[in-house]
Amino acid sequence: MRTQIGIVGAGPAGLVLSHLLHLQKIESVVLEVRSRKYIEERIRAGVLEQGTVDLLVETGVGARLKREGLVHHGIELRFNRRGHRIDLHELSGGKAITVYAQQEVIKDLVAARLDAGGQIIFEANDVTVHGFDGPKPSIRFRRNGQAEELHCDFIAGCDGFHGVCRTSIPANVITDYDHVYPFGWLGILAQAPPSSNELIYCQHERGFALFSMRTPEVSRLYIQVPNDEDIKSWPDDRIWSELQLRSALDGNWKLAIGPVLQKNIAGLRSYVAEPMQYGKLFLAGDAAHIVPATGAKGLNLAVADVRILAQALVEFYKSGKTRLLERYSETCLRRVWKAQRFSWWMTTMLHKFDTDSAFDQHRRIAELDYLTGSRAAMTSLAENYVGLPWD
Ligand code: APR
Ligand code: PHB
Repeated sequence: MRTQIGIVGAGPAGLVLSHLLHLQKIESVVLEVRSRKYIEERIRAGVLEQGTVDLLVETGVGARLKREGLVHHGIELRFNRRGHRIDLHELSGGKAITVYAQQEVIKDLVAARLDAGGQIIFEANDVTVHGFDGPKPSIRFRRNGQAEELHCDFIAGCDGFHGVCRTSIPANVITDYDHVYPFGWLGILAQAPPSSNELIYCQHERGFALFSMRTPEVSRLYIQVPNDEDIKSWPDDRIWSELQLRSALDGNWKLAIGPVLQKNIAGLRSYVAEPMQYGKLFLAGDAAHIVPATGAKGLNLAVADVRILAQALVEFYKSGKTRLLERYSETCLRRVWKAQRFSWWMTTMLHKFDTDSAFDQHRRIAELDYLTGSRAAMTSLAENYVGLPWD
């Protein structure tokens, strides 16, 4: 088998890349270890930056997103029993975020690729990448037990944090920057209408809580839990009462409760691998970097990476120039590090740390108090939250 770009992983990075390349008449094959059903049902993030939405809409995969996505013009920060609205729309010069689950983006992209005759090989096992430090890159894998090889000009490693691409690059080439937070998020999907029209980020002495949503009938809610927490110690009642405590407000507030449809715990991590390329192998999305979920940047960063990669590959195929390809990592990392900074800042400001001194606790409240009282500070939050400009 032969193609121009061999893509490992059918997450947002791999699928958006394949789609953007197709629009520029560049061929690709996507190899995905999971089944189509699995990736279309996997529960992940749900906040799209303005630029991500615009890109999906402009490239023809945003019709359902436009119809069903929930456009939000603000978020609330809640601390000391008070809520403070950040008017993202006004402060960012008219931008917004859209709440639309990642698996819905995946469904739209898979459908678009397959309708256009694109090749996604699901349940591709034992994927390994070869020859990317020379002229003949290839990807070996097994389909229905049969060994196969895909020859290509370039390999895009879009296989997420636990994928094979990053770890196939010689260890002495990559510097990794890693920070694991001493807590995770217990997330639930509940058959309950969102308690508020907008997302609420709560800072509380018991720990962080986040009120998000998926549809007008389904809420997505999170609470901070210790890192090694056993999900069995969190029956539904305990989750609801903790959500109640952490969101308590002087004023009108009623938490809508309903059956819990799904429950999971995920760790929080900041990670960057530098450089994001080696020879003819290019890493994109979670394969190269992870951000803690507090800033809602993971999916958006993946899209930003592959936008840059697609442009660089287009330049190469149109003119033979490798200038943009050579600068791929450097270009991406400028945005990646800014998103790292923002995600780290949101995380440290809003979570409880066991190591906190009384001074730290006061400083954190002062930070929130300053932020919610200063137009300059809120503007900074807003421009990062809706997404920094592409270039
Ligand atoms: N071979 C083939 N496919 C693989 C392999 C492998 N060895 N390892 C992982 N994959 C697949 C995964 O099954 C997944 O579908 O690669 C895909 C990677 O997708 P994501 O993890 O979604 O990563 P990415 O596309 O970079 O998107 C980042 O996804 O993880 C969320 O919150 C994160 O929103 C962020 C976004
Ligand atoms: C979500 O809805 O899953 C979500 C929203 C905002 C975040 C993180 C996750 O910061």
